[in-house]
Amino acid sequence: MYRASLSLLAGLSFVPGGSTAPTASPATLIASHYTGKLFTLTFTPSGSAGSLTVGSPVTGCGTTPAWLELYSADKTLYCFDESWNGSGFIAKYSVGSDGKLTLGSQAKTTGNSVHGLLYGGTDGKGFVATVEYSPSTLTTYKLPLSGSTKPLSTLKFTLAQKGPNSRQDVAHPHEALLDPTGKFMLVPDLGADLIRIFSIDANSGTLTSCGSGKADPGDGPRHGQFFWTKPDSTQPQILYTLNELGNSVSSWNITYPSGAGGCISLTKLQTLSTYAPGTKGGPTTKAAELRTFGNFLYAANRADQTFGSQNDSIATYKIDPATGKITWLEAANAYAYYPRTFEINKAGTLVAVGGQTSSNVAIINRDPATGKLGSLVASVQVATPGRAGEEDGLSAVVWNE
Ligand SMILES: *[C@@H]1O[C@H](CO)[C@@H](O)[C@H](O)[C@H]1NC(C)=O
Ligand SMILES: *[C@@H]1O[C@H](CO)[C@@H](O)[C@H](O)[C@H]1NC(C)=O
Ligand SMILES: *[C@@H]1O[C@H](CO)[C@@H](O)[C@H](O)[C@H]1NC(C)=O
Repeated sequence: MYRASLSLLAGLSFVPGGSTAPTASPATLIASHYTGKLFTLTFTPSGSAGSLTVGSPVTGCGTTPAWLELYSADKTLYCFDESWNGSGFIAKYSVGSDGKLTLGSQAKTTGNSVHGLLYGGTDGKGFVATVEYSPSTLTTYKLPLSGSTKPLSTLKFTLAQKGPNSRQDVAHPHEALLDPTGKFMLVPDLGADLIRIFSIDANSGTLTSCGSGKADPGDGPRHGQFFWTKPDSTQPQILYTLNELGNSVSSWNITYPSGAGGCISLTKLQTLSTYAPGTKGGPTTKAAELRTFGNFLYAANRADQTFGSQNDSIATYKIDPATGKITWLEAANAYAYYPRTFEINKAGTLVAVGGQTSSNVAIINRDPATGKLGSLVASVQVATPGRAGEEDGLSAVVWNE
């Protein structure tokens, strides 16, 4: 495909690898900050460089907005509040074409939600599920949100015994991950070393525990991503998980039930470090986020300072498209300290990294052919920087596209 388009363009004065691409129009991003604010950022590309500007903040997601879930087709953003004071908020915003956020509805929560998303109903948007890190709960609510919204259900997880890592004192669900068929919810539990599996009743929003995948002791699974070795299938064949405590990523074979009423089963295939072979993280490093794009997997390391005091790394892996097997490619500069979230744009050409402690958003080049992350395109500080090892600074960033 790439070669064909080069020869097609041969008659034009196209310089391969050069910066003759037409200047694209500005893109917007949305970032949340642990001081209770959400910001719209505007990225204006200019040749191979670009600039980022930060708009005025909006509030509405409580004291500690932690996670953003964008529904671009609906121009809607949901924000989840990590407040650890025993109460918090879910907030819904409408997103203008210029990225401007307008607070719509809000609901009170029990606080400490580190992730959430919509599921069920007739269109996959009938309910919202959230996970609470220290209360160890998976909570559901019926949409639409309002001031009188109350939880539909609260499932509390417990441990049969503590895990080997001191942070595995209780169950710590870290994500409500909707399977692409919409029939199952997977909950990586950092405290329990489990990927908990729930079947979804789309009509009632009921989540029923139906099994789990067992991570290795001390892995501390945090987030997951799906991969298709059969791209035409509605069901993914592989799940990748990021292990925050083990500083590693794992791959799992997913088997879907043949009939109604069954459960997904997960078989662990592989675990690879988020550090280059022969190296490892230190006592304060914590892997944070993983993303797939094409046949590549990326995992962000927090506080490893591989590329300098304010430059942590993003581990890069190649995926064998036939089997989902991953192999180490390289460590790339995240241009951020404590990259808690990152997201690749739809074109696969740019990565937005949210540095939590550095409280910056960095835009980095990505080569779609090699999967490699490259030079810094733009970076901007958003609100106040955090303090090393504290729950402050910039919590999340998403592309608005
Ligand atoms: C917890 O409550 C205190 C006192 O009301 C408030 O100052 C602080 O911002 C709250 N912190 C969080 C994380 O919600
Ligand atoms: C994954 O599971 C499927 C279905 O059970 C099986 O056919 C396949 O061999 C498994 N793949 C691997 C890599 O274990
Ligand atoms: C981050 O990395 C860039 C590119 O290598 C370098 O120019 C910069 O000095 C580094 N900054 C810090 C604070 O480590």
